[in-house]
Amino acid sequence: MGNPLARAAELLTGVVVVTGTDTDVGKTYATAALALAGCSAGRRRIAVYKPVQTGVLPGDSGDIDDVARLLAAAGVPSDLLTTAEGQRLSAPMAPPPAAAIDQVPLLNLDDHAERVAALLSDHDLVLVEGSGGVLVELDGQGRNIADLTERISRDVDPYVGVVLVGRPDLGTLNHTLLSLEALYRRGVRVLGTVLGSWPSNPQILHETNRDYIVNIHAEDGRSIPLLGAIPKGWGSVG
Ligand SMILES: Nc1ncnc2c1ncn2[C@@H]1O[C@H](COP(=O)(O)OP(=O)(O)OP(=O)(O)O)[C@@H](O)[C@H]1O
Ligand SMILES: [Mg+2]
Repeated sequence: MGNPLARAAELLTGVVVVTGTDTDVGKTYATAALALAGCSAGRRRIAVYKPVQTGVLPGDSGDIDDVARLLAAAGVPSDLLTTAEGQRLSAPMAPPPAAAIDQVPLLNLDDHAERVAALLSDHDLVLVEGSGGVLVELDGQGRNIADLTERISRDVDPYVGVVLVGRPDLGTLNHTLLSLEALYRRGVRVLGTVLGSWPSNPQILHETNRDYIVNIHAEDGRSIPLLGAIPKGWGSVG
């Protein structure tokens, strides 16, 4: 099993937030690939934190369990990885309605930042996987993963950055550019982009999308690196 995000290794220290252009774009796969790249680059204690996991019942497998499974398949020793969920909700929808259905309050940004700080105190790398896309509300008070990143930057790790995962197929350019604009507008540091679920037989559409995304620049002219593409089926082989 290869390491599709090996070139991200130098960015993988402290807190890294993984967000996406949408739900189901491959954030969990990208989180596992980033953890693997961190491990290959010598990080000895890696934590993965999912602030709000929706759509699972007690005992069900969530995103952090998928990360653990993918890393085990890659041969990463289990004692190197810590996984943690802030909160789990049963309905498969955004956190505010899911919390209303379960009749529980949502954790707030301070709660999540405290948990991230606790993980950072004894890990070299803490990966935080958001719910859905950039502007999905996390806390019932209108705050989203970009706001949580800002809070982490203020209270936990001033160098925190975001990795944006997107699809390789039709529509991704608009979603990628909108998501990046929302991140810039909130002053969030963008470390790079990742293409989830890269097809084994890419069409010209996938390749031209990738070429476009490779050349995206931030508003200050800096390039936003494409950190890699996760091959479809990664993790299910060898
Ligand atoms: N590289 C990949 N190889 C194989 N399957 C993939 C890959 N990336 C995504 N998938 C498929 O797409 C689904 C969604 O991927 P993933 O769970 O990583 O998305 P997500 O963005 O984390 O979704 P969520 O918003 O629910 O957290 C997976 O269940 C898997 O079936
Ligand atoms: Mg996920």
